[in-house]
Amino acid sequence: MTVQKENENIIQENDLIYLILEDRKRWLVQARAGETFHTHHGFIEFDELINKKPFGSCIFSKPLETQGYKFYVMKPLPSDYILHMKRKTQIIYPKDAGLILLYTGIGPGSIIIEAGCGSGALTCILGNYVRPNGHVYSYDVREKSLNRALKNVKRAGLQEVVTIQEGDILKKDLELRDVDCVVLDMPTPWDAIPKIKKYLRLSGSICCFSPTMEQVKKNTFSLKNNDFIEVITIELLERRLQVKENATRPETRMIGHTGYLTFGRKVEPFKENPYREKKPKKKEIIDMTGMPLRGENNDH
Ligand SMILES: C[S@@+](CC[C@H](N)C(=O)[O-])C[C@H]1O[C@@H](n2cnc3c(N)ncnc32)[C@H](O)[C@@H]1O
Repeated sequence: MTVQKENENIIQENDLIYLILEDRKRWLVQARAGETFHTHHGFIEFDELINKKPFGSCIFSKPLETQGYKFYVMKPLPSDYILHMKRKTQIIYPKDAGLILLYTGIGPGSIIIEAGCGSGALTCILGNYVRPNGHVYSYDVREKSLNRALKNVKRAGLQEVVTIQEGDILKKDLELRDVDCVVLDMPTPWDAIPKIKKYLRLSGSICCFSPTMEQVKKNTFSLKNNDFIEVITIELLERRLQVKENATRPETRMIGHTGYLTFGRKVEPFKENPYREKKPKKKEIIDMTGMPLRGENNDH
């Protein structure tokens, strides 16, 4: 590791840190100067980390004589933010967020519209990936969701690349044009599709998250009727494995269902092909009873 890389890896004041207590528990906390983090397994003084320890360090909780539990101090991954953030609404899980990124082409520089922001779990993932020069414009109708999402975005240090705004995506007229992607996680995406398509650039992508198949059908037909092609729906099942010397197998418990992801890509409105004449119909031959026969040779 170069000296510069080593320095970047040192924990700074107000950094979010991911504390892992052996195999038992995990916390996402902010390293605030002069403060102490208390757990049932002893406490940790942030001043002993800030400007001193690199991410990945192993430390022991205090008092060392009575507690002395082993903790690892890690740099949080996007999935850690999602699973440990404060939430009030159903959130998008990491497996689905990963798929959204790949199937929409979201990356550094992307401009995105999101509705609704809910607790801001997906908003934080999107913000993290559009950095440094992209932007996420996220809307919600509920004040509680807006406040919660804003807190989570600030906590993740993403306020430069994310704007959280009050707004009903079904009614509000946004000034935005030529955006790269629209992500809808709200009760009726199919109603929003005719309105939001004008915000997207040609070849831009849309993703609708739906917990039920009834919603998937409505979204699919709405996309197909509104100049979207490559309309596909994916359900991604995640199953973790328990790995033990003589008992390696799927874990007993799993999250059985999160939702379905319907994707589409915007194209120009439908045009007739001027280079191809209408295909001539096959000649029909009428038999003596007046019934049409299917072909000249009466073949089927
Ligand atoms: C399931 S939550 C979204 C969760 C979010 N994706 C996350 O990962 O935290 C759905 C949100 O859509 C919002 N919503 C419902 N109708 C809306 C509309 N017409 N425009 C904008 N947001 C809307 C709700 O208030 C709610 O907060």
